[in-house]
Amino acid sequence: MSDFADRVAIVTGASAGIGLACARLLAQSGAVVVVNARRAARLDELVEIDTDRVVPLPGDAAEPDVIEAMLEAARRKAGREADLVIANAGRGLRGSPLDSEQAEWEEVLRINTLAAARLMRAAIHRMFAEIGVYQGPPQRPRDVVVLGSTVGRNLSPFSSFYGAAKAAVHMMAEAMRREAGPRGVRVTTIEPGVVASEFQSAAGYDPKAFGEFMESMAPVLTPDDVARAILFACAQPAAVHLSEIMLRPTRQAYP
Ligand SMILES: NC(=O)c1ccc[n+]([C@@H]2O[C@H](COP(=O)([O-])OP(=O)(O)OC[C@H]3O[C@@H](n4cnc5c(N)ncnc54)[C@H](OP(=O)(O)O)[C@@H]3O)[C@@H](O)[C@H]2O)c1
Repeated sequence: MSDFADRVAIVTGASAGIGLACARLLAQSGAVVVVNARRAARLDELVEIDTDRVVPLPGDAAEPDVIEAMLEAARRKAGREADLVIANAGRGLRGSPLDSEQAEWEEVLRINTLAAARLMRAAIHRMFAEIGVYQGPPQRPRDVVVLGSTVGRNLSPFSSFYGAAKAAVHMMAEAMRREAGPRGVRVTTIEPGVVASEFQSAAGYDPKAFGEFMESMAPVLTPDDVARAILFACAQPAAVHLSEIMLRPTRQAYP
C-alpha cells in the first residue's frame, strides 16, 4: 500500500465493516483520519491506533451539523481541507418496494443517499475553494469516494428497495464526477458485491436464507478487500481517475 502520510481523510461509518477497515488502513498508512459513526465507544478504540492522527467525530452522518463538524475537524487538525473523503455510512433493508418494511424507507434513503450527497457536496465545495481559479492539471490528488453497490446496478432478489437507494447514489456520483473532475477533484463510486460485515443483520436478512446464499459463493469479500480497492483508487497519480470499481466475490454470479 502506498504512503498516505500527506493525506487528510474523513471516513463515515467507521465503527464497523468497510468504514472501519478503511480508517484502519489509512491510519496505518500515515493519514490524518477523522472517523465518524454513532457508536462513539468504537471510535475511541480506533483512536488507539494513532492518538495523534485519528480524530473521532461521533454523530449521525446525515445531520448537516455533523457533516460540517467533520470537515472542520479535518481542517483544524491538518491546517488544510480534507482531500480524501469516504461517504461510507449506510445500511441495507430486507425486501422489495412491495414487501419491505415501509417504516424503514426514510432512514434507508436518508443515510445511503442524502447523507452521502450532503457530505460529498460540502467536501467538494471546500476543495474547489482551496483550488481557487486555477484550472490546469491537478497538482495533487483530491478524492471523494462513495459506497454504491452491485445491487444499485443489478436487481437484487433480497433488497431491491435498498438497491434503488444505491442506484440514486451511482447517478448522483456520476453527476458530481462530471462537474468536479475538470476542476481537479475525483469522485469515485465503489460497488461491492457481498461483503461479510454487520450489514446483513442491520438489514434484517433471514440468517438462514442469506447464510446459504453467502455459502454458495464462499468466500465472500471481507471489509479489508473493499478498503484495499478504495485506497488503490485514491493512490493513483492526481491526473489518473479510476472512477468506478465493482468488486465481487469471484464466485458471486448475481446480483
Ligand atoms: N456489506 C455488503 O455486502 C455491502 C455491499 C455493497 C455495499 N455496501 C455498502 O458499504 C457501506 C458500508 O457497509 P458495511 O458492510 O461496512 O456495513 P456495516 O458493517 O453495517 O457498517 C455500517 C457502518 O455505518 C454506520 N452508520 C449507519 N448509520 C449511520 C448514521 N446514521 N450515521 C453515522 N454512521 C452510520 C455504522 O455505525 P453506527 O451504527 O455506529 O452509527 C457502521 O459503522 C454501506 O454504505 C453499505 O450500503 C455493503
